[in-house]
Amino acid sequence: MNGRTLEQVEKLTPVARRLEGDTVIVTGAGFGIGRAAVERFAAEGANVVVNDIDPEVAAGVAAELSARYGDGCAIGFGGDVTAEGFNREMVDRAVATYGEIDAFVANAGVTRDAALSRVGRDDWNLTLALHLTAPMELAQAALHAWRTANDPYRRRRAVFTASVSALGNDGQSSYSTAKAGILGFMSTFAIECRQRYRLPHVNVNAIGYGPIVTRMTQEGKEDIQVGGETITMGLPEGSHERIEERTLLGRMAPPREAANGLYFLIGPDSAFFTGKILWMDGGTFKLLRS
Ligand SMILES: NC(=O)c1ccc[n+]([C@@H]2O[C@H](COP(=O)([O-])OP(=O)(O)OC[C@H]3O[C@@H](n4cnc5c(N)ncnc54)[C@H](O)[C@@H]3O)[C@@H](O)[C@H]2O)c1
Repeated sequence: MNGRTLEQVEKLTPVARRLEGDTVIVTGAGFGIGRAAVERFAAEGANVVVNDIDPEVAAGVAAELSARYGDGCAIGFGGDVTAEGFNREMVDRAVATYGEIDAFVANAGVTRDAALSRVGRDDWNLTLALHLTAPMELAQAALHAWRTANDPYRRRRAVFTASVSALGNDGQSSYSTAKAGILGFMSTFAIECRQRYRLPHVNVNAIGYGPIVTRMTQEGKEDIQVGGETITMGLPEGSHERIEERTLLGRMAPPREAANGLYFLIGPDSAFFTGKILWMDGGTFKLLRS
């Protein structure tokens, strides 16, 4: 596993199993928010397709979920979501395995931050490919599956992981551009599902996270391997105190708490939400450094 170990995520006690019979794809579910989300979905009775760029990580998480919540409730589908044709193959595999795909969370992401004077074309294009093009292709593949499914009137859900950085953040021009773009895409996808494709029971929404403690935002820089490439993740020492000062709740959230928002948007209680952004940011009120 390239020296990487699986993230330690506590087993949950299923409460109501309100996702029984649903199949959910989560991209970037090897670590962080995605990892916590698949734990919650599986605990609530869903079948989950676990994607991560590292196939061994994806398979490891799926095996852990199957052991905890029911044999075969999870499959790993490792690989790079930006690879051509990948999202279609993932949706096809989900349908072949579980018969349906009810929902997806387009969550995979890394940041390639730099002040504007140092932003290179490659990093810019890779960021847009990962946070914009890949979610669009996943939505396209899911739409195809929903339109050709036995029951086009079944309730479906699409969720895109966005960020408060969509409104601008120092040093994140590529990331904030992509995260703002996904909000426009989300809205158009919601409209087209209803207007153009006559699928009235698709809930399409975005979740706009504030500071969640993951590898992306941990204090202290760390080189991580993503698809064989070394990327420096994390924030400089002292960052968390500054971040906490600009959230009304005065804290960052753990991935498990972030997954509650995704559970709401995937679960039954969000049936009357579509084309919306759920800001889950602890009351982030300014991104400028003080
Ligand atoms: N952590 C935060 O504060 C925060 C805030 C706002 C938005 N977000 C967004 O939440 C999402 C999850 O981030 P996180 O904080 O959990 O980070 P993370 O690094 O813990 O998790 C990201 C996951 O995506 C996977 N991944 C990266 N590139 C991939 C690719 N090309 N194909 C498949 N998988 C890939 C990684 O291996 C990892 O499992 C991202 O879209 C991120 O932009 C995070």
